[in-house]
Amino acid sequence: MKRRDWIGTLFGAPLVGLPAWADHAHLPPLPPVKLAESDPEIYWRRIREEQFVLPDARAFLNTGTLGIAPKPVLQTTIDYLLQSAELNVNELPRWGGEPLDDLRGALAGFVGCEKDELTLTHNTTEGMNTIANGLDMKPGDEVLRTDQEHPGGICCWDQKAARFGITVRVAKLPIPPKSSAELADAIISSFGPRTRVVSFSGFTTETGLLLPIRTIAVAARAKGIISVVDGAHMPGQAFMNLRELGCDYLAASPHKWMLTPAGCGFIYGRGDMLDRLWANVATYNWDNRSLKGARLMMVGTNNFAIFKGYRAALDFFNQIGPERIYARIHELARVAYRGAAQLPKVRMLTPEDDSLYRGMITFGIPGVDLRKLNPLLKSKMIWIVPGPDSVRISCHIHTRRADLELFFETLRGGLAG
Ligand SMILES: Cc1ncc(COP(=O)(O)O)c(C=O)c1O
Repeated sequence: MKRRDWIGTLFGAPLVGLPAWADHAHLPPLPPVKLAESDPEIYWRRIREEQFVLPDARAFLNTGTLGIAPKPVLQTTIDYLLQSAELNVNELPRWGGEPLDDLRGALAGFVGCEKDELTLTHNTTEGMNTIANGLDMKPGDEVLRTDQEHPGGICCWDQKAARFGITVRVAKLPIPPKSSAELADAIISSFGPRTRVVSFSGFTTETGLLLPIRTIAVAARAKGIISVVDGAHMPGQAFMNLRELGCDYLAASPHKWMLTPAGCGFIYGRGDMLDRLWANVATYNWDNRSLKGARLMMVGTNNFAIFKGYRAALDFFNQIGPERIYARIHELARVAYRGAAQLPKVRMLTPEDDSLYRGMITFGIPGVDLRKLNPLLKSKMIWIVPGPDSVRISCHIHTRRADLELFFETLRGGLAG
């Protein structure tokens, strides 16, 4: 099969006979913005049907684990892989030594910081480890984290404790909380005399709770404490402006909500905070501080194709309009909240106050191990991962109201049966 034939089978487009690298011409244009205003339901239905390769029968509710890339992102990534195998040109960028200024510049515009404050990584876990391993700390120095962290934001500190004798203390968050102030207070009131670092999530992994980053970061700085945010779920789920948030470090996974290919992450360090980090992986330029954020990207040969897709995902967001996307995500999550709240015997783990969440909501049914519903959910092509005590629903722009209805109907049936 010729190259463009099999790409054609991916998107259902007949690509035979096109000149090389004209495949982009076959990408469907975005529906007109006017439609988003006049008939938003049709606009979003067209986005789902025309811009994603999701089959009609699939209800995908798990962006919180890993998002799915839309067609322009897939196409750009695939194009680069093909180009780099064909070598019809004499030079191609790879990733291994390049600072990727264009991509970092575009990303900086999107997340509200300077290009030099960004290092591209593969994911949040790598980013959190780069920060934790990069900071000088001595025995007895304390890291304060919350009890709602993901292993990617726990183990980096635990290893540092085992290796260097630092201590890790855990602040308990109220679930569900009454207010943002209650969350801030749970963390700030736990600062101790030896606390050097406070490490917490922007959106918590299990319940999708939005933590008051700025309040915590400002209070930490006033005490000389470094604030580290696990921002895995932040880019793409909601508006973020790092300058306004004011934290010292943040690690993120745009392959969740920003719809990049898997393996796209970043770290942010406020001002010159990245310069303070030891490189986790050392190769040439490991100590060349003039490179700013790019110094920590020198990690050996890498897959440049995903970074082409990274850029395409930013363009996709900017073309639709990030605010429009965030509003849709939140609207659907509110629908999901209402659906869940009507389930018999439900315990909502997400607060009713919708300023405390954006695209994810979580609930449990006390006494029921929700994992038993897995085969039923799979049989209905519903992609979600129930845990023993709770299940988290993630809504994105490809989520249909019908997907949520199907999920709740299936759940009710399963719980009754
Ligand atoms: C809050 C949080 N942090 C970190 C991670 C790890 O993300 P990644 O696997 O992209 O490193 C996750 C993944 O679900 C998460 O929810």
